[in-house]
Amino acid sequence: MIDSHDLGLLLASKIPVIVIESYEERLVLDMVSGLAHKKRLPCFVWTVTEGLTDSNLHQLEMQNGPVSDNVRDNQGFRDPNKILYDIKKSSRPGIHLLCDFHPYLENEPGRVRLIKDIALRYRYIRQTIIFVSHEFPVPPEFKHLTARLEIALPTRDQLVNMVKDESLQWARENSGTKIKTNPESFNYFVKNLQGLTFTEAKRLIRRAIDDGSITKSDVPDLNKTKFQLMNQEGVLAYEYDIPSFHDVGGLHNLKQWLEKRSVVFHSAVGLDIDHPKGILLIGVQGSGKSLAAKAVASQWGLPLLRLDFGTLYNKYFGETEKNLRESLKLAEAMAPCVLWMDEIEKGIGPDDSDQGVSKRLLASLLTWMAERTSSVFIVATANDIRKLPPELIRKGRVDEIFFIDLPDHETRQKIFSIHMKKRGIDPNSQNLRLLAENTEGFSGAEIEQSIVSALYSNEGNREGVTPARILLEIKNTVPLSELMDDEIQQLRSWAATRTVSAH
Ligand SMILES: Nc1ncnc2c1ncn2[C@@H]1O[C@H](COP(=O)(O)OP(=O)(O)O)[C@@H](O)[C@H]1O
Ligand SMILES: [Mg+2]
Repeated sequence: MIDSHDLGLLLASKIPVIVIESYEERLVLDMVSGLAHKKRLPCFVWTVTEGLTDSNLHQLEMQNGPVSDNVRDNQGFRDPNKILYDIKKSSRPGIHLLCDFHPYLENEPGRVRLIKDIALRYRYIRQTIIFVSHEFPVPPEFKHLTARLEIALPTRDQLVNMVKDESLQWARENSGTKIKTNPESFNYFVKNLQGLTFTEAKRLIRRAIDDGSITKSDVPDLNKTKFQLMNQEGVLAYEYDIPSFHDVGGLHNLKQWLEKRSVVFHSAVGLDIDHPKGILLIGVQGSGKSLAAKAVASQWGLPLLRLDFGTLYNKYFGETEKNLRESLKLAEAMAPCVLWMDEIEKGIGPDDSDQGVSKRLLASLLTWMAERTSSVFIVATANDIRKLPPELIRKGRVDEIFFIDLPDHETRQKIFSIHMKKRGIDPNSQNLRLLAENTEGFSGAEIEQSIVSALYSNEGNREGVTPARILLEIKNTVPLSELMDDEIQQLRSWAATRTVSAH
């Protein structure tokens, strides 16, 4: 990441062509024309719509609307060929900023050559060409004469100033009424702006302060938009409606563990100190692992991002590792957040058929987990321990491995109660005991299913869904634990020495 100081150094180091890939054209124009002014160099801006203009005039027009055509001394140079010939003909040193020029170089060897001509002549006439586009593939012909620049994202201090500036602006527009906030909300808001570009940050600040205040409730909306802006490739999913632990039966140990660490995690946000890194949830299918993963985010009040391994593999063939790196980068930009990796063994379990991709993915992931300092809390889940890579469960990789066993009698009552209430069915305690007694070996998902089936078989009529009806569905169900008795016993004995109980 580079700023105007670095651009200055680059100009001084006599590089004839500079490529800046950015959506922040205005920012680049400001930066370049400011520098040109300091160095007393003429600076011109070209766009296909406006042709070539002096950068000062261009700035003026962007702010105040078009100046009439005859004021320009360079009008009419909209043709990409003409402008390149013009630069080549000119003997004046200066900077030419060409905005969105990338389409005009495709299959245009003549134009590519013109640029190379100008660049090769740089020793005699110092003309720098700067290309600004959202994406600019540099033709190999002048690659060796080209440097790439990345625009730095705003720092914390810059963001603080931006929020202050926008707040003052708002106050001016609203007859002096000041923006209401407190230091805690203000800092939390600024923290969540990090990772955005200047333009995006400004837009989202304006949106947040539009109601005259900056509060913590501005943050979820900010995070959603931020995520949409950043997640161009779509490998991470932002989970919106997340359940709370009130919707989860059992898992008392897990809840307690999370409660204890919540304060530590939140106070470590943004600081370079140890903070809870993550947990791994293991259990049979339907035991509530995915549900619990979501509840972590809601308990800690953090955005929940799900890493979808299927998309990771499929999105662009052969780019899986790059996709993973970018997803992890995005998660860091969204920090503090929960990164949920569901059924992780399917994504990075041993697989001999993929030319080592999953092995390399695992290696990348482990390195990132070991080195990262950002406040990204990982919640990984797994059904199948046989496919779980041993490196992942080694001590210290995650803070704790929790085993979610099938629910006991009391937990089954609770789960029945949660799901009956959810569907408007009255759960009295006598019924709950009866239902729990008859569902030994049932998973949470199977308990829920028995209620849903009873509702269906009663054609959706809640009134008639009696415990007897639910019992009927229960009798017709063979729980997975009966079919997979051996596997479950193995899982339990594996878990006994390596994990703590989530219940
Ligand atoms: N402990 C529980 N409390 C409440 N509901 C549960 C519980 N366990 C499972 N369920 C229900 O079963 C559904 C499926 O569970 P899920 O979390 O997807 O299981 P897993 O990820 O372990 O396969 C959940 O969405 C929830 O409705
Ligand atoms: Mg699941």
